[in-house]
Amino acid sequence: MLETLRLSGWTGPFDAETKSRALSGLESGSVLFLPNLAFTLLESEKQFLDAGVYDGKAKNISLDPATGRMQASSLTGEKAARLAAMIERFGRQAAGLVQALLPYTQVERARTSFRPVEVKGRHYSKVSDDRLLHIDAFPSRPMQGRRILRFFANVSPGSQRHWQVGQPFEDFARAFLPRVRPHVPGKSWLYEKLGVTHGRRSLYDELMLSLHDAAKLDCEFQQHSPQQAVDFPPGSCWLVFTDMVLHAALGGEFALEQTFHLDVDQLAEPERAPIRVLERLSGKTLA
Ligand SMILES: [Fe+2]
Repeated sequence: MLETLRLSGWTGPFDAETKSRALSGLESGSVLFLPNLAFTLLESEKQFLDAGVYDGKAKNISLDPATGRMQASSLTGEKAARLAAMIERFGRQAAGLVQALLPYTQVERARTSFRPVEVKGRHYSKVSDDRLLHIDAFPSRPMQGRRILRFFANVSPGSQRHWQVGQPFEDFARAFLPRVRPHVPGKSWLYEKLGVTHGRRSLYDELMLSLHDAAKLDCEFQQHSPQQAVDFPPGSCWLVFTDMVLHAALGGEFALEQTFHLDVDQLAEPERAPIRVLERLSGKTLA
């Protein structure tokens, strides 16, 4: 469930054994835990360890690396620019590490987020509540089978980040697939036309969203399915395929996160990808 690598530098080069453990750990559904790798804030950035930098209008503060546009921060002017620069610096370091550690040649750097609010006290609807075990699936951004790889850093000065990590994806999919609602013809076309989604949802996207929602809405599953608590201490990082690993973020404040997307054919073991598992179990082509 946890593959621990004691890297202390961001840039490598990393030895063959380290790279091989990273790759097989990630693709088999472990969380790659990097206890000695810290993202260190500059003295001038420590002022951003304050929930007040967040405006409450989205789940997290996020930065689009393509445009440099930051969302959901309450800061303006020069302070906003310095917060965006901190998030960007983290995103670049995370991308450099992924490139040095993993053999994937085409990894798309998607949004970078800063999560400055204590997870415990927040209020959400059940399907938006990431304190419940779930796999990641984006309602507005169809993935068409592409993978979601996420790199996290706990930058809190004193709080652990508490996660629960659940059972293997295939066990989960086997249990939930018979219960998910059937595909509604025309819905993905309409959502694309209306601008609800950026691009068209494939059957894979619909299935992943249904699995995400069904898991969060099932109290019995939340309480009694096999799971393990994992605490990520301040000054540590972790990397995980969140479209495959059931996870819940139960507590902690001040984390940074970088999302990456990659095609299934980049994987060393494509048959382990959620789309291949779901195609095998359902007998359908999903994207
Ligand atoms: Fe998640």
